[in-house]
Amino acid sequence: MSYVVTIDGPAGAGKSSVAKRAAKELKIKYLDTGAIYRAIALILAKSEITPEKKEFLNEALKEIKIELRDNSVLVNSFDVSGEIRTPEVDSLASIYSALPEVRAALLTLQKEQKNYGSIIAEGRDEGSVVFPDAVAKFFLTATPEARAKRRYLERISKGQEANYDEILNAIKQRDLNDSTREAAPLSVPDGAIFLDTSEMTEDEVVNFIVQHVKEAVKE
Ligand code: DC
Repeated sequence: MSYVVTIDGPAGAGKSSVAKRAAKELKIKYLDTGAIYRAIALILAKSEITPEKKEFLNEALKEIKIELRDNSVLVNSFDVSGEIRTPEVDSLASIYSALPEVRAALLTLQKEQKNYGSIIAEGRDEGSVVFPDAVAKFFLTATPEARAKRRYLERISKGQEANYDEILNAIKQRDLNDSTREAAPLSVPDGAIFLDTSEMTEDEVVNFIVQHVKEAVKE
């Protein structure tokens, strides 16, 4: 029987690495919903469709076809997986994902992913809006400072430029955007397990989630 697990939480809480590892251990698929929002934000911005241009926005959303492959995201058959991972797209995705039109357009695409087998869906409203009936729901968070430190170390380890204060400010700004927007603001879904990971190792978080999901699926 296939099932859905959701992991929601703010930027930089370690959701992606944890969700990827837990999916591997549970032998189920990982659904990176942030990548979908990033892809759509990138294409809308490139097409110069600013959030105020509502009539163009609705037309464009009908034309844009997003496809998810195992490790890539395609927009109208064009692979944007690399292009969506930049600080610029971080802020574009935060802006465009606040638009109800964008959220509505991406809802069906997300929901139908469960038709292809069990999944761990990671994002902001997966346990509340997209998959309210998930078998297990988690809300991962950490202090902004802990999250900024992780992002900083991640960028440095990839040989990228990084400035801790800039990262911290960007995280605080994104938290504010994601939690104060009107459409599906970031919140702890009903029935979700709340995990503050500031003082936890990644292994501890992954083990906790995997054990909990195994129990929940057994029941
Ligand atoms: O997780 P991420 O940083 O890749 O997400 C990019 C943006 O997309 C982030 O600003 C919040 C938004 N997002 C969302 O609103 N709902 C989701 N389910 C996933 C991401």
